[in-house]
Amino acid sequence: MKKFIDAIEAFLGKHSWTPTRFGREIAGDPLFVFDLRDGREPRSETRNKVLKTMAKFSDSGKLSPLRLGVAGLGTVGAELVRILEKDGNSISRKIGREIIVSAVGARSRSRDRGVDLSNVTWFDDPVELAKSEEIDLFVELIGGEDGPALASVKAALSIGKPVVTANKALLAKHGVTLASIAEKTGAQLGFEAAVAGGIPVIKALREGLGSASVTRAYGIMNGTCNYILSRMGCEDISFEDCLKDAQELGYAEADPTFDVGGFDTAHKLAILTSLCFATQIAPDEIFVEGITAITQADIKVANDLGYKIKLLGLTQFSPEGIEQRVHPTLVPKTSAIAGVDGVLNAVVLETDHVQELMLSGPGAGGAATASSVLSDILDIARGTSVPPLGVPSDELAPYKRAPMRTHEGGYYIRFNAKDVPGTLGVITTSMGNQEISIESIIQRPDLQADGADNNAEKTRTIILITHETMEKNVRKALGEIEKSGLVIGNAQLIRIEKF
Ligand SMILES: NC(=O)c1ccc[n+]([C@@H]2O[C@H](COP(=O)([O-])OP(=O)(O)OC[C@H]3O[C@@H](n4cnc5c(N)ncnc54)[C@H](OP(=O)(O)O)[C@@H]3O)[C@@H](O)[C@H]2O)c1
Repeated sequence: MKKFIDAIEAFLGKHSWTPTRFGREIAGDPLFVFDLRDGREPRSETRNKVLKTMAKFSDSGKLSPLRLGVAGLGTVGAELVRILEKDGNSISRKIGREIIVSAVGARSRSRDRGVDLSNVTWFDDPVELAKSEEIDLFVELIGGEDGPALASVKAALSIGKPVVTANKALLAKHGVTLASIAEKTGAQLGFEAAVAGGIPVIKALREGLGSASVTRAYGIMNGTCNYILSRMGCEDISFEDCLKDAQELGYAEADPTFDVGGFDTAHKLAILTSLCFATQIAPDEIFVEGITAITQADIKVANDLGYKIKLLGLTQFSPEGIEQRVHPTLVPKTSAIAGVDGVLNAVVLETDHVQELMLSGPGAGGAATASSVLSDILDIARGTSVPPLGVPSDELAPYKRAPMRTHEGGYYIRFNAKDVPGTLGVITTSMGNQEISIESIIQRPDLQADGADNNAEKTRTIILITHETMEKNVRKALGEIEKSGLVIGNAQLIRIEKF
């Protein structure tokens, strides 16, 4: 302890700092030195953190440059290096500390990435890069839930080196383990870019909302899906044609399953849920439905009824546990979220004190994502220190899933029904048997039912809108209706949220 106090007194003398400045800038508590002089011993983690921070100061008393190691020089990584190349000086002035890229790595060394890497050390192995003494902060922009991304992030955190990553898949699967390693070694772990790209939602949840507690959060967190659904809403164009255009424009991957299947949104939702409700991250406990079955008929009927269809990720407390779901949703055209179109993302946080807060903006793209990566880097450069998941990882509550069958809400149900007497009667009776109250029944002869041209039988499109009811009742009623043989194929079911 005496050695520790001596080191601090020596630092104060050498840099002519006041005890208050030391406390504020190094220990995060203006009274730290006074308490120490009064004989109050800090905890060993605090001592380690203070010693580590002191070591970062040069002889002039200024923070030494923060040296980055960037693994992955693709869309986001190369853009990060480009931004630092262009705006490095103004960023350094803003935070009072120089930020430099010291080392980088990717798969191909020869590929031109449009940035100057001549003074930067190259690493083929991301783990070696993470452990290198040439860097103070490791930036993981490789991607993937395991493999080199996981190995390198673990390697850095294990030796107390801070990490910034944009990797939602990694965080969704290993977030709690990584947070726990970071807490043990005193390293920072930033992942602002992992949820909704350029939108600072992690910071809002971790720091901005302070004591407010979140009751529900939902959002549009996949630009590809939002682009497709928005375009289908404006033009008479099928899902398949829209997807093809999105691929040509670079908004969708060659294999779009991860996006249009809802899995990308699920990864982001899993991270969001943990931050909202201080629970373990549970990516496998999410109800996921993608947008591939949405047709023009659904878009048109929804529009006529005053709704838009959006792929939402939603997390909320219910008496049974936490409901985490990703699915196409009918949202009122008048709601704020309905106005978020194209490739934009948005997250709405409903809290006790702040009520409703909507953050919207670009959810992907090199510049927007690199901007969030940089915001984490700047926080670490300034010495900001928060537990990665908002609360210490050993205080995260176990995740308890609310079963989907107990979900309560309104439903849009579209049937491809046989055009024979009694069909409508069977549909309404089956609904009545499950005590489902129907808000409206619509027959749309103008909308050709799916596959109608392949059927010998005449069919018609019938749409029901239900009042609030339980998912298990709807499932039972649909089972009964489908068993009657009066409808062709499975009914289209889309949940309604009245925001
Ligand atoms: N792109 C976005 O809009 C966006 C938005 C939000 C979050 N993110 C996340 O950001 C991360 C990076 O995304 P990205 O779009 O920039 O990916 P990307 O364009 O595919 O770039 C990946 C980079 O990682 C390198 N790499 C791959 N395997 C490697 C290995 N074994 N060792 C070393 N380097 C390796 C690649 O090297 P080569 O270049 O030599 O092939 C490439 O430079 C991902 O986690 C992604 O989910 C991206």
